Amino acid sequence: MKLPEKVEVIEVCPRDGFQNIHDLIPFDAKVRIIKKLAEAGFKRIEAVSFVSPKAIPQMADAKDVMLAVKETLKEHGVSSVALVPNARGVETALECGVDELTYVISVSEKHNLANVRRTPAESLEQFKALIGEYGDKMRFRLALATALGCPFGEEIRTERVAEMARFGLELGCQEIMIADTVGMSNPARTHALMSALVKEFGADTFVMHLHDTRGLALANTLACMELGVHKFESAAGGLGGCPFAPGAAGNVATEDVLNMMSEMGIETGIDNDILHEAIELIEADVHAPIVSHMAHLYHKAPCR
Ligand code: COA
Ligand code: ZN
Repeated sequence: MKLPEKVEVIEVCPRDGFQNIHDLIPFDAKVRIIKKLAEAGFKRIEAVSFVSPKAIPQMADAKDVMLAVKETLKEHGVSSVALVPNARGVETALECGVDELTYVISVSEKHNLANVRRTPAESLEQFKALIGEYGDKMRFRLALATALGCPFGEEIRTERVAEMARFGLELGCQEIMIADTVGMSNPARTHALMSALVKEFGADTFVMHLHDTRGLALANTLACMELGVHKFESAAGGLGGCPFAPGAAGNVATEDVLNMMSEMGIETGIDNDILHEAIELIEADVHAPIVSHMAHLYHKAPCR
């Protein structure tokens, strides 16, 4: 099996992991967790989303959180990433000096309407306008949600995913994120989509965002690596899920991804002990079960 020698793991727990937690996480706890994650060696951390607080109440303090962690991220050489759905989000990100923005559009029409209250075509037009206006001030990446399965049963065609990726790249995006938002894919399906995309756009273009709802996220990760894809998002503790996607569960856990990579001799640059210190902070302050394999082994916690 030919695999990349190193991979980039992008930590998204503070955004994707926290957005789905019902109880508000104290501001200080969010800051503490993000600062600890910053010490672990990630090159990028998606720390917040600047979205409507009515849509995601947990992110109501996102601006203050970003301002509080920014210096620490910088000191550790970590680029800050924020998810935004509109111009207001971009403006806030600019005020905070965020390094990179994730703009999310679902391939599925129904999911895009549920998530951002507009059609994918409207989102694409808005994205074009945002890049036109802010593209020289900000690095944008386009995230294609539900690219590997729609929670509302819509068929996702490879050609449509490719078309949307092409649209983003032609606008000047350097990266396209491919999300299995609800963890519906399997290695064969993932391989089929990604081999078409890699063939047309190259492996460097893609960042994978794989949820582990059905336990297949690591298998899907490996299917991508066999195609040379080497950038993966994951969440410490396996937290995560989109509140507007029925059935969505956690992201693949960062500690499980790290374990798989290190067991295969693949470099990530991440300090496993510091990552587990961050997971302990998450366990202490975030009301969500830690669902990963490695957190249980590491802490010798009983099975839950
Ligand atoms: N930051 C802060 N507040 C925002 C905002 C932003 N980026 N965008 C909108 N708002 C506020 C508006 O000011 C308005 O507040 P008000 O009612 O007090 O005046 C309210 O949110 C609704 O704004 P509106 O422009 O009418 O948006 P909408 O109701 O049509 O919702 C989105 C559209 C995109 C803003 C909303 O659906 C959203 O934030 N979705 C994100 C979902 C998400 O994060 N999903 C998980 C990640 S994939
Ligand atoms: Zn997600």
